Amino acid sequence: PSPQTITVLGETYPTDDYTNLPPTIAALLARRLHVTPPHPLNTIRKLIAGHFEGFKCYDNLPAVVTPELNFDSLGFPPDHPGRERGQSYYINRGVMLRTHTSAHEVDIYRETPKSGGWLCTADVYRRDEIDRSHYPAFHQTEGARLVNLVDMDKLRAENDELRRRIADSKIIMKDCLDFDPVTNPLQSSHLPETVLPMAQNLKLRITTLFLSIFPPSSDPLHVRWTPDIFPWTSPSFQLEVRYRDAWLELLGCGIVLDATIARTGHNPVDERSWAFGMGLERIAMPLFGVPDIRLFWSQDERFWKQFKDGQLSTFQEFSKYPLSERDVAFWLPLGEVGGWEENDLWDIIREVGGDLVEDVKLIDDFWHEGNGRRSLAVRITFRSMERSVERAEVNKVTDDIKAALTARLAVEIR
Ligand code: PHE
Repeated sequence: PSPQTITVLGETYPTDDYTNLPPTIAALLARRLHVTPPHPLNTIRKLIAGHFEGFKCYDNLPAVVTPELNFDSLGFPPDHPGRERGQSYYINRGVMLRTHTSAHEVDIYRETPKSGGWLCTADVYRRDEIDRSHYPAFHQTEGARLVNLVDMDKLRAENDELRRRIADSKIIMKDCLDFDPVTNPLQSSHLPETVLPMAQNLKLRITTLFLSIFPPSSDPLHVRWTPDIFPWTSPSFQLEVRYRDAWLELLGCGIVLDATIARTGHNPVDERSWAFGMGLERIAMPLFGVPDIRLFWSQDERFWKQFKDGQLSTFQEFSKYPLSERDVAFWLPLGEVGGWEENDLWDIIREVGGDLVEDVKLIDDFWHEGNGRRSLAVRITFRSMERSVERAEVNKVTDDIKAALTARLAVEIR
């Protein structure tokens, strides 16, 4: 039987059929890496704040929010997949861990003066696969700027100045400031004369942010803008950065919908706003040379000792310990059609294996005609960033994972 209450950051909540927050994840809420020097995420937060001069900073908003704030206030439809238990961490039906810093947009806009700007940095939580660049907890900085329509000429002049700064920089930007208004439409009440300079300002401010935080000596930074979709912005964009032969999603942004602005006490008739939300680990990994996202959560002093508050440095990997792989194959319960989510699998494996689990891959998935059952197989890679792990320990953890899968998902190990 599951416990009737759950305690998160000292606060006790009743549980219900939505509760899915494992203790391993709940424990991360107290870490507050983004405000703890000399952690690299704290340094990045401060570098960003330095770039957006005059923007008011919110760095201490609690991670426990309502689904209304996280989703409804931003116009997420009732059936949006992000709301599912398989995607987000719920304390119960009424409270969850924020999945993005946008959860605070409406509240912050409400206390922002006309033509004001703000930043909000926080830890955010999403149920996810396990690999070197995905972790179910990460950090985002949200930023937004309100512009009064009477100030559009000033904005255009600012854009010209920003464009000059980018012209001969080391940033290699694919496609850039333009976008296709057919596939990425302006809001019907918006004129191109006002939205285009806003969208350009958004992209220029972000591009110059990267110019200012990546040192001139570093390798050229490859970035690309692509169209995107968010329930509370249009047009919307995504920025990706090239790192270790892959394009990593770095941020989402766009022109905030009039409907959202109207909810904040601002008047959409004379004010426009852009907003962005960017992943800090995705910037910190190339900037500090950190090869694995789990390292940010390390308590090992060999990690912490390498950083100085407010300064960039290149992380020296501590000795690489060998990896071990174990395959686990199992039958799903007979007649299994739903009732569990693939993310339950990743969470149970992470919960039992902790940070020894570097990677989990589905390597086999088939229906057996004879017995009418579905079989899955996963390959778990074990490696500690901090020590060498004995074979006996890997075997023991693998057995524990099998036992937990059997007990909690009613699977039958093959
Ligand atoms: N919250 C979005 C995300 O996490 C990013 C975003 C922020 C998009 C603000 C638009 C405006 O992906």
